[in-house]
Order: sequence, then structure tokens, then C-alpha cells
Amino acid sequence: MTQSAETTYSADAGVHEPVNVAVTGAAGQIGYSLLWRLLNGEVFGARKLNLRLLEVGPGLKAAEGVAMELLDSAFPLLGDVVITDDPKVGFADAHAVFLVGAKPRQAGQERADLLAANGGIFGPQGKALDEVASKDVRVLVVGNPANTNAAILSANAPSIDPRQITAMTRLDHNRALAQLSQKLDVPVTALNRMTVWGNHSASQFPDVTELQVDGESAAGKLDQEWLTGEFIPRVAKRGAEIIEVRGHSSAASAASSAIDHMRDWVNGLQGQDWVSVALPSDGSYGVPEGVVSSFPCRLVDGHWEIVQGLEINDFQRQRIDATVSELLEEFETVKELGFV
Ligand code: NAD
Ligand code: LMR
Repeated sequence: MTQSAETTYSADAGVHEPVNVAVTGAAGQIGYSLLWRLLNGEVFGARKLNLRLLEVGPGLKAAEGVAMELLDSAFPLLGDVVITDDPKVGFADAHAVFLVGAKPRQAGQERADLLAANGGIFGPQGKALDEVASKDVRVLVVGNPANTNAAILSANAPSIDPRQITAMTRLDHNRALAQLSQKLDVPVTALNRMTVWGNHSASQFPDVTELQVDGESAAGKLDQEWLTGEFIPRVAKRGAEIIEVRGHSSAASAASSAIDHMRDWVNGLQGQDWVSVALPSDGSYGVPEGVVSSFPCRLVDGHWEIVQGLEINDFQRQRIDATVSELLEEFETVKELGFV
């Protein structure tokens, strides 16, 4: 395995230049799916990928095994591979970073119960990104609790534009689309303008107020009892349901959603007016500035931008406030723990 030499790619550079992609937790469940999808060209097209596989000490040997399997897959897009436990090596000149490495929760835990165990990972990683990553790096935090980990990261990476640091609520968005597709008996591609607000937690608000089916408003197609009694809790608690049934937290669906998130970020939205992205708030919709909350987002000049001008009714206001208040509490906890 070689150390990377060239770092000439920038987000807008030519199609032949390689992309430096770092994946933490590379030997874990999600990494095992994500890396193969990346090397299929699903995000960066025909560009070669220089992979930086980050693990903690005990995971390094398994990461080597993953790298051996990647090699054995004979991917034409595989560039060089670096395996390391040092974020400064792994993030050097990185253009895209998937921060997956963190403990998953067990049955009976909430994601916020992982704050003490996982929050400490993201301060040092933020500092390393700040120091060595490309300034236009695209960062996706997957490790839980994802929103607050991203807030810790951003606080420790002051030279990186906060819009470049995102947390994953695309899995919640996709879960919502899947439930709606079944309920309305339409393909997922017929659905547009789904929004997940707030925290990637049980308090999140999967919101169908603006939902469209085949370009028409879905208002009147979904009854409020189903929405509040079944749909919202189903989507919000789907992670726990998967853990209960599968015995492990979601992995392939998480990797797939991470691919969707980064693919759209690099290539633009695929027929959707917006998708759900957690990113530091600019104060939109009454969410205090800096809180890493999920919003309806579209891409403008390669940057995620929160969709403006949506009218918020009392039911939405109450749900958004509840999930944002949980995010504020989580941030207070990480301050007390000394992570920011
Ligand atoms: P896993 O236990 O299978 O793998 C995690 C890997 O991360 C392990 O190999 C571990 O050694 C490594 N790791 C731990 N700390 C690290 C560090 N500081 N640097 C680099 N590597 C490190 O877990 P998984 O199933 O792959 O899940 C990873 C995380 O993603 C968990 O926190 C899980 O809860 C979260 N997750 C988030 C979403 C989401 O939608 N945001 C979805 C699914 C899972
Ligand atoms: C998920 O939503 O599946 C992940 O965040 C894992 C979990 O702990 O629920």
C-alpha cells in the first residue's frame, strides 16, 4: 500500500484527475458496502479514487483485509490505497470524507447515548481536517449521533466552510420515500419534495406537507391519523426496528444513502426539487445558527442551500421546535464533556 503523491484534483477539475476519498471505520459494516459502491463509479464517475482507509489500532488489520478484497475486485477505478490510524495522514488533501468510524448503538439505546463514547472522535478529526484536507472538501458524518458529531467537527475545523460539513439524514429521507411509495402504491421516483427536519434521532420530523406525487400536491391523499400514528414514528424509529430484527444496526441501506448524498452533492439532484441534508443552520426556519439540523436542501453552485420560503404551520412548528430543542441539549452535553 503506497502513500499518496499527487493531489491535483479540485471539485471542478477535469474528469481524468483522481479524487482523494477518505473513509473512517473502513473495516466496519458500512465501510464494507460503501467502498464497493464508490469504486463502481456511482459518485465520481470515471475518475480514479485514491482511497484513505482510516481505522483505530485494532481495526487496522481488518482494514488491510478490506483493501486486499478491493484489489481482488479488479476495479479499474482503484488508485492508491493508504491504511492508517492517523487522521492527518488519512485526510491529507482529501476531497471527500465519509466519517463512518464510531460505535453503533445496541438494542435499547438511543443514539444520544453514544455521545460520550463517540463525540471524542470528532474533535481531533475536525482539527486534522482543518489542517490537512483540501479546503473544498465535502464531508459527510455518518457515525452517531451524526448531527452533534458534525457540530463538534465543524467547531474544530474553523477554516472549512460550514456548508462543507454535513450529517446524514438521507437514510431517513429514503425510509420516508419507501413508506410513502408503499402507502400510495406509486414508485419512489413519483415522489418529490419530501423533507426530514431536525435530528437523526427519534425526535426527527419526517414532513409530507410539501410532498408531491407525479408533480401534484399529495394533500388529501394521506390521512393525518396515519401520518402521526404510523408514518412519522415508523420512519423516526426505523433504525431501532432494524437493530431489533437484524441484530445489528443498518449497514447496506446506510451506505446506499451515503452514496445518494455524496452523488447528488457532486453531480446535482436526480430529478428531485430538494432532498434532506443535515448541515449547520444559517438561522432559517427559526433554527438557531450553527445547529446541525436536517433541512430541505438543494444545490446552488456546488453548495447545499436550505430551500427558502416554505410556510410553516403550527403542527410543523411544534415538531421542528421539539427536535431542535433535543439538538441544543446534545450540544450542551458535548460542551460539558469538553468536546467543543
Ligand atoms: P461497525 O462497528 O461495524 O464499524 C465501525 C468501525 O469504525 C469499526 O471498524 C471501528 O474499529 C471503527 N472506528 C471506531 N472509531 C474510529 C475512529 N476514531 N477512527 C476510525 N475508525 C474508527 O459500525 P457500523 O455499522 O459501520 O456503523 C458505524 C456508525 O454509523 C455507527 O455510529 C452507527 O450508529 C452509524 N450509523 C449512522 C447512520 C445514519 O443514518 N447517520 C446509519 C447507520 C449507522
Ligand atoms: C439508523 O438509523 O439505522 C442508524 O442511525 C443506526 C441506529 O442506531 O439506528
